[in-house]
Amino acid sequence: MMEVFGANVHRSPSQLTEAGRKLALDPKNHSGSLGIAISEAVEAAVTDPTVAYALGSVLNHVLMHQTIIGEEALKQLAKVGETPDLLVGCTGGGSNFAGLSFPFIREKLKGKMNPEIRAVEPASCPSLTRGKYAYDFGDTAGMTPLMKMHTLGHDFIPDPIHAGGLRYHGMAPLISHIYELGMMTAESVGQKECFAAAVQFARTEGIVPAPEPTHAIAVAIAEALKAKETGEEKVILTALCGHGHFDLAAYDAFLNGNMVDSAINEKDFEAALAALPVM
Ligand SMILES: Cc1ncc(COP(=O)(O)O)c(C=O)c1O
Repeated sequence: MMEVFGANVHRSPSQLTEAGRKLALDPKNHSGSLGIAISEAVEAAVTDPTVAYALGSVLNHVLMHQTIIGEEALKQLAKVGETPDLLVGCTGGGSNFAGLSFPFIREKLKGKMNPEIRAVEPASCPSLTRGKYAYDFGDTAGMTPLMKMHTLGHDFIPDPIHAGGLRYHGMAPLISHIYELGMMTAESVGQKECFAAAVQFARTEGIVPAPEPTHAIAVAIAEALKAKETGEEKVILTALCGHGHFDLAAYDAFLNGNMVDSAINEKDFEAALAALPVM
């Protein structure tokens, strides 16, 4: 689609940057990752004065920009006289999750409501639930400043699951901070469970979700069914952060039984954490 509008699109790791060429030498990097793509983009921006790079997640200003989502959700809920008991969002770098939840956290701090705030991440890239809270690079090649965040290590390469937008080794420093303060919870889910929920959601709502929000949808459905069982009345709010029209290959894999959930390679996991910068 981008090429229709005149862009040139290259897969990452590419042969166009030093970072890409270097990282492509290691077969574990061949599936690419958000960390590798950021290294290549930063290199392109710093080596060519005509190129600019706008980061799409993780940093404070991106999270703040996305709070339009939560501000609007607050107004929509107020119109129907509801406050949420549970907020669920998917987390890659954390921008849509922060965008939804931060305005509600503000209201919670003011004592106006008391929702549980829950992040859902892929089982194959569990930066909140299994990562360390430490200073790390935001990209794989180590070109960015260090940030204190929940991280799996900047050279951790997650399995090539379909939710590409959640394959980021770190987490926004602001989210990592409130997680440390105990102001939110997190859980991880495998992709098959997510796509089962996505198909149910699509057949109920008429919207095909992107693979990323299927993580939040899976937990929202599970929590709704739990509440139904216990008879508890529960208002659950989630963010549908993207449609799945560009991800139909993923649905094809799921519907044809070709989707797999592989366990994390514990050796790679330990090695990436051991390679965190020493402070
Ligand atoms: C549809 C969608 N949702 C979520 C994400 C994850 O990013 P973030 O955690 O910053 O919202 C991405 C990233 O590419 C995405 O494409």
